Amino acid sequence: MSPDALRLWDGPVLGIETSCDETSVAVLEGLSVRANVVSSQAKLHEQWGGIVPEAASRAHVEAFLPAMEQALSESGMNLSDITAISVTNRPGLVGALNVGLTAAKGLAYALEVPFVAVHHLEGHLLSPLLDDPDLRFPHVCLLVSGGHTEIVRLEGVGAYRLLAQTRDDAAGEAFDKTARLLGLGYPGGAAIQELAQGANPERYPLPVALEKEETLDLSFSGLKTAVLRLVESEGASLDKPDAAASIQHAIARALVLRGMQATEREGVDCLTLAGGVAANERLRQSLAKECERRGWRFRTPRAEYCTDNAAMIALAGSWRLAAGQRSGWEAEPESTAPLPGPVES
Ligand code: KG4
Ligand code: ZN
Repeated sequence: MSPDALRLWDGPVLGIETSCDETSVAVLEGLSVRANVVSSQAKLHEQWGGIVPEAASRAHVEAFLPAMEQALSESGMNLSDITAISVTNRPGLVGALNVGLTAAKGLAYALEVPFVAVHHLEGHLLSPLLDDPDLRFPHVCLLVSGGHTEIVRLEGVGAYRLLAQTRDDAAGEAFDKTARLLGLGYPGGAAIQELAQGANPERYPLPVALEKEETLDLSFSGLKTAVLRLVESEGASLDKPDAAASIQHAIARALVLRGMQATEREGVDCLTLAGGVAANERLRQSLAKECERRGWRFRTPRAEYCTDNAAMIALAGSWRLAAGQRSGWEAEPESTAPLPGPVES
């Protein structure tokens, strides 16, 4: 598929994302992000060491209107300039999704504009396009977030094939759970990255699960157990920065290994990296280096478009709207859902 085959909605699209613990509202025009406001609930959930769904829903209700007002003000637009709405309705926390979905329906009704409910992972899969409109298809995407770790082949926009996934914890979950074992805050990925700076990643050898097996699947639950054992056996003598660097190294090694194997097996020459864990500098650098060695393209968006954001949701909705897809008032939030297919005409 050539990039100019990517037809987008003609006019400003309001994107809404409330599937987990970020309330995000964006304004997208074509591929130009006019505003992408993200209000994170990380501080709220830190006290519990993880996301409490009921608290997340309430926080979305409080944060939504201020986030929308900020997005409109940053983009220099009024609500009346919005010509369509794209909102995440799956997968995610049902109560949290419902806040964004209900807001989208209310706005669509009041503004008399169409809305479309989209799959959160389609947003992540397409997010590299926000920084590289010339992104080529087919390619393989390593989609690594707090809730998902999937390897997907993209034949084109709307044509996705799941190649492999984690058998247990997601990569972001592995960062979050091991960070907790080290006594770091939530979410753990950024905290581990920061602590690992300048530390020795070889100090504590940690396992890469399924390393030698004939599969593209991943597994991170063994890492959590290994870190628990390490923390218990080292006690007060544990060097936390070295432990953080070793954890980051183990997760990155597993992801780089599978990323290379999947791209090779699929016979394509482009790999993308998306999802919250894609914000990890060590992972980005390792994948960039390995792809360069093989003469492949490597694309990953800026960190702001890796972690949950409404710009990627506006993008996923924009092409669906342009292709004629619309959602009706009966659209519901769904906690789980397979990857979406093409627009049916
Ligand atoms: O995509 P995302 O914002 O939400 C989900 O859809 O899950 O991903 C959140 C995950 C968290 O597990 C967080 O620890 C991880 O992304 N993360 C990172 C970094 N920044 C966020 N992991 C590693 N390094 C980072 N710099
Ligand atoms: Zn996400």
